Amino acid sequence: MAWKLDGKLAIVTGCASGIGLTTTRLYLEAGATVFGIDISTFPEPSPIPRALCDNFHFHKADLTAPGACDDSVAACLSKTGKKIDVLANVAGIMDAFEAVHKTKDTTWDRLISVNTTVPMKLMRAVLNEGGMLEQKSGRIINVASKAGLSGAAAGFAYTASKHALIGMTKHAAWRYRHDGIRTNAVCPGGVPTNIKDSIHKENFDQESLDTLTPFHRLNHARDGGQSISTADIANVILFLSVEASRNVNGVIVPVDNAWSAC
Ligand SMILES: NC(=O)c1ccc[n+]([C@@H]2O[C@H](COP(=O)([O-])OP(=O)(O)OC[C@H]3O[C@@H](n4cnc5c(N)ncnc54)[C@H](O)[C@@H]3O)[C@@H](O)[C@H]2O)c1
Repeated sequence: MAWKLDGKLAIVTGCASGIGLTTTRLYLEAGATVFGIDISTFPEPSPIPRALCDNFHFHKADLTAPGACDDSVAACLSKTGKKIDVLANVAGIMDAFEAVHKTKDTTWDRLISVNTTVPMKLMRAVLNEGGMLEQKSGRIINVASKAGLSGAAAGFAYTASKHALIGMTKHAAWRYRHDGIRTNAVCPGGVPTNIKDSIHKENFDQESLDTLTPFHRLNHARDGGQSISTADIANVILFLSVEASRNVNGVIVPVDNAWSAC
């Protein structure tokens, strides 16, 4: 049972694609009920195996819209009639590798809103209305990035948004350590997903990207040209969600095949 989520209710943001979609599937296979949220439509035909569909609820929402995080948690509670056990903050977007002197207000606001403010609002909502503080139990997993650990993996705004997410993770872990609530973060390296579609090409900062590419090349060379898979990330998210990791709290786990070790 230490590796299962039987009877647990999990919210997964960004469930329609990439790491969020794979996490949703692993949670369902582990026995959880999943309330998945995404701004995009869920893929058709559904990649969720038929036998698991009854435990999956999809909620379409732009989580940056006013009130959307609270409304989504309220919808989860009323749809399932349960308190929330797990929150996986997976939804995220990329900048266009802009250095700070080229960062537009719109880019900054968009990145901070999706990557930092939405996770904060959802953490607050699951702790309060979602019942984690009341039931003295909960697991929160924030998907940050290699760019949350160093300054050489993305643009200025993305880097700032993910560094903030790591600080939020550590603060919550420490603050609620006696309340049965654990908060951890996962930092993927480069994973082939749809996240590249969130890059605003008109803002692309090739000059800044050129200063980062030695690190990217190193990463890909180390992988033998093969990138890290969404399952590699989702497996760690699952581990941080189950009882087997019960004393793992406040850790930041890179899943990047040693990229962050260089
Ligand atoms: N792919 C990588 O190389 C990589 C590396 C490091 C970190 N990450 C992080 O992993 C997480 C998942 O990204 P992914 O690679 O699976 O990308 P993805 O684009 O495949 O999936 C992200 C999902 O988030 C959703 N989303 C975006 N904005 C939203 C909003 N406002 N409201 C609701 N949903 C929204 C998108 O529709 C999408 O389905 C992100 O937080 C990303 O920063 C990815």
